[in-house]
Amino acid sequence: MSNKNIVLTGDRPTGCLHLGHYVGSLKSRVELQNSNNDCYIMIADIQALSDNFDNPEKVKLNVVEVCKDYISVGIDPEKCTIFIQSLIPALTEITMYYMNLVSVSRLERNPTVKAELQQKKFADSVTAGFLCYPVSQAADITAFKATTVPVGEDQLPLIELTNEIVRRFNRIYHTDILKETDARLSNVQRLVGIDGKAKASKSLNNAIFMNDDKETLKNKVYSMYTDPKHLKVSDPGQVEGNVVFTYLDAFHNNKEEVEDLKNKYRKGGLGDTTIKSLLNQTLQDMLAPIREKRAEISHEYIMDILQTGSKKANIIANETLQQVRDAIGIVYY
Ligand code: TRP
Repeated sequence: MSNKNIVLTGDRPTGCLHLGHYVGSLKSRVELQNSNNDCYIMIADIQALSDNFDNPEKVKLNVVEVCKDYISVGIDPEKCTIFIQSLIPALTEITMYYMNLVSVSRLERNPTVKAELQQKKFADSVTAGFLCYPVSQAADITAFKATTVPVGEDQLPLIELTNEIVRRFNRIYHTDILKETDARLSNVQRLVGIDGKAKASKSLNNAIFMNDDKETLKNKVYSMYTDPKHLKVSDPGQVEGNVVFTYLDAFHNNKEEVEDLKNKYRKGGLGDTTIKSLLNQTLQDMLAPIREKRAEISHEYIMDILQTGSKKANIIANETLQQVRDAIGIVYY
């Protein structure tokens, strides 16, 4: 056994990835793959169905789009195993065994699930599938014996549940095959949407997507929330909460230049159009090569990556499944 870190990340394929994903996770995945880790990236189509079961077409389409996003930002399928959740049957079986180790009230108390339930339209009847997706996520993580799961803060309760299941499983079945995992919080704050109100998200329609075209990108930058009290160029303006500066902080390479601009803006004498034009240029320069690379990627190439990755993932998940069955003691041959 090597002592490499095993890193697992996942995305629900419900839409193309945006700049929030880029600063929050895509960039760090590229770094992780280049620093001698065993990296797995799962496209969680089964989990996506848990609140999109009435729209499977959307999920299927976005499996391919999300994978295109990965490749176009520089995730290397030679270094990362990229796979589709539904192509790994062992995950589903492991999920069923874990279901016995979690109480319904424990699932109902999960803060992530609670917050999601408030946003979603289950009316007053949440499905069993949705309530239990955290158990399936525990199966995803443990099947690959992931040592590290890089996540945003909203995912912490899911990692906690995973480790609870690991401890329970090992205790009840007198084994140590399952390993606890470490959540690695990304050190980047969640990116705010262009409206300045909430985090960038597809459903709120306030995100800049990795594959937005030039014109769309420019329009989004120019419609960004700045300081509503900064009416004339000569007025002193506020930098905190000003989305253009938040994005310049996140994406402009020259920190000194950004600090200079902030000082000028605060004093008065710097117009919104000037900072928007700089941000537009910064983002156009950053996204142009990504957009170009995306345009060259064929559907066949993506399917090939997903098939190869899923084959490899199946071997590992099946090994864990075998150990899980052994530990429980249901082996019949
Ligand atoms: N719940 C994650 C999200 O909404 C997606 C996901 C599914 C995941 N399985 C995972 C993340 C395993 C990390 C590890 O983004």
